[in-house]
Amino acid sequence: MPITHPKTHLRLRLNEQNKGTDEMIKNSILAALVAFGLGTGATNAAGTGHTEDFAFSFEGPFGKFDVHQLQRGLQVYKEVCSACHGLRQVAFRALAEPGGPQLEAEQVKAFAALFDVTDAETGETRPGRPSDKFPANTAVGAPDLSLMAKARAGFHGPMGLGINQIVQGMGGAEYIASILTGFTGEEKTQAGVTLYENHAFSSGWISMNPPLEDGAVEYRDGHPNSVEHMAEDVSAFLMWAAEPKMMARKNTGFLAVAFMVLLTSLLYLSNKKLWAGPKRKD
Ligand code: HEC
Repeated sequence: MPITHPKTHLRLRLNEQNKGTDEMIKNSILAALVAFGLGTGATNAAGTGHTEDFAFSFEGPFGKFDVHQLQRGLQVYKEVCSACHGLRQVAFRALAEPGGPQLEAEQVKAFAALFDVTDAETGETRPGRPSDKFPANTAVGAPDLSLMAKARAGFHGPMGLGINQIVQGMGGAEYIASILTGFTGEEKTQAGVTLYENHAFSSGWISMNPPLEDGAVEYRDGHPNSVEHMAEDVSAFLMWAAEPKMMARKNTGFLAVAFMVLLTSLLYLSNKKLWAGPKRKD
């Protein structure tokens, strides 16, 4: 397959995804009806990269974000990724909210001040405040990471039907972690752009320089800092960034299901009682 310029390629891929959504839903429903249970193992739609299945703490109906992991991921984002990628939809003050990295108010203040932001009113550049959002970063054409963990699906199979997602989830965080750990070390130059071979990227060649190397970030909590650990941590953080209310959503979901179970049993019992007389067969 010819390699397109990374930007054109990115746009093409986004279009494909939009177009595919309706069809994917239709396919998924049909397939779920006729073939539920057939889907095991992560296969990928033709042409897409390979996503590893990482075990994240927030998976499953009772999964929760690990506060320490989110804090480490925030550190990786700040020290490494923010050099090229913006996070422009995430407000600094969200870092203090329950369910997130839960920094202290003072820490949020100090952290925000490490970034230069453009004041919306005066247009001046000044240190960030908790009420600001993380700055955008378009310097090298790297995509904004605010919603990346929701914009990409790591798992597509089998046959692109998405059935595995019922079990494995969408795999957005896995996709990011796979990209970060998927470099082979090979590189080539095409039309003046250096491309790095990466098994997780759809075309197999990405224009992002491998951003992590073992020990790149010194964790304050002494957690291991191999490429894989940092990749997991920053991916968990980006999952939170894309869906900060995930914990609240899961709690609501659990309450709703519990309520339905209770209501169903009550209705069943009252129905039985109501009809006990007329239905008696004596
Ligand atoms: C030196 C600049 C630079 C740094 C540092 C960097 N990136 Fe990138 N990143 C890029 C560029 C440029 C692209 C676009 C690559 C392409 O489309 O070929 C990219 C693409 C990506 C993609 C793929 C997006 C897609 O379209 O599917 C992910 C995920 C990503 N970066 C995550 C990260 C994370 C997480 C970090 C921090 C650990 C990071 N990047 C650090 C420049 C960078």
